[in-house]
Amino acid sequence: MNILVTGGAGYIGSHTCLELLELGCGVVVIDNLCNSSPESLRRVEELAGRSLTFYEGDIRDEALLRKIFANHAIDCVIHFGGLKAVGESVAKPLEYFDNNLNSTLALTRVMGEVGVKNLIFSSSATVYTAGSEMPLKETSPTGGCTNPYGWTKYMTEQILQALCVADPEWSVCLLRYFNPIGAHKSGFIGEDPQGVPNNLMPYITQVAVGRRECLRVFGNDYDTPDGTGVRDYIHVVDLAKGHVAAVAYTCAGKGCEVFNLGTGTGYSVLEMVNTFAQVNGVKVPYVITDRRPGDIATCYADPAKSEEKLLWKAEKTLADMCRDAWRWQKQNPMGYEK
Ligand code: NAD
Ligand code: UFG
Repeated sequence: MNILVTGGAGYIGSHTCLELLELGCGVVVIDNLCNSSPESLRRVEELAGRSLTFYEGDIRDEALLRKIFANHAIDCVIHFGGLKAVGESVAKPLEYFDNNLNSTLALTRVMGEVGVKNLIFSSSATVYTAGSEMPLKETSPTGGCTNPYGWTKYMTEQILQALCVADPEWSVCLLRYFNPIGAHKSGFIGEDPQGVPNNLMPYITQVAVGRRECLRVFGNDYDTPDGTGVRDYIHVVDLAKGHVAAVAYTCAGKGCEVFNLGTGTGYSVLEMVNTFAQVNGVKVPYVITDRRPGDIATCYADPAKSEEKLLWKAEKTLADMCRDAWRWQKQNPMGYEK
């Protein structure tokens, strides 16, 4: 089976390419490297002992997409490619709407033309309406997003659902990720954020490795057991395996299905810091600061539907996530290529 992976050089994409190669799939990647390095794909090939085909280019380039589909008998597309920084999306909304919506429109247009109608899309727990009851089920209310990034995920879901209504030949899985962290157990590939990390785990690892002085914990007055924010952290390798399960599901059926990819368990910021420090034997200095605007107290998944229909379940523990994130950071203190 041949899979086209958009955004395959990125954090989640690279881990998924590795899983697919290890299963014997043919893997074709399109990525414009706007937030990644080709070194990730080189390392994926080295780990897998097999090669993939890489096209450096923009998903919005329909001529390039046509060429890729002409050159390879693609069975299914996994669409990771997109911009993902919440704060940046507030500052540059047009860039986010253009990149994230037009890439999906170009991709689905060309897929329709060439008759490849199996698609898996990287959505996010951010599409759920703030204030909904926990755990979040796929049927929980969506919308009311608080930033342009979130709206691009919500709108893309709408576009793909409408496409499946208009043409019943399409089979689409919308995968709503919770908080992916960690790295492949080799420590050879991992998350390599540009500039100051927005997310908790890369910030923790950069403090631990000495690149940053101190973690700021954004608020300890939330309505949670220790007052700090609670999230459903999922190991990126479990998440990658969720995509493998979704490929099988997508290729076997028709219509549009939504799945949560999370563990079902929430951990607080302080639990994350303490577990990381304890399992790795390192210090993570932190200070409590004000809340970060837009943050919610608690967010975790009900993963029952994925377990039942995708036959997939996250298996790795929080200790695994912390150990693997640290191994990657320690072995690559400045990330790829530096
Ligand atoms: P990432 O930035 O590491 O990977 C995205 C990749 O897409 C990058 O390699 C980037 O160069 C590429 N890209 C962006 N726009 C492109 C374009 N127009 N043409 C070609 N390539 C393009 O991000 P990630 O963490 O691996 O996330 C992958 C997907 O999952 C994204 O769509 C993201 O929004 C979604 N997601 C991520 C998280 C998370 O916390 N990491 C949570 C929920 C959803
Ligand atoms: N946090 C800190 N200090 C930091 C960074 C984060 O205390 O330096 C806290 C946050 O306040 C939050 C928790 O750690 O309580 C997790 O924050 P992240 O930024 O790692 O993750 P979020 O849940 O805020 O956001 C993530 C993705 C978004 C996505 C959202 C919902 O980054 O893209 O999950 O899926 F929209």
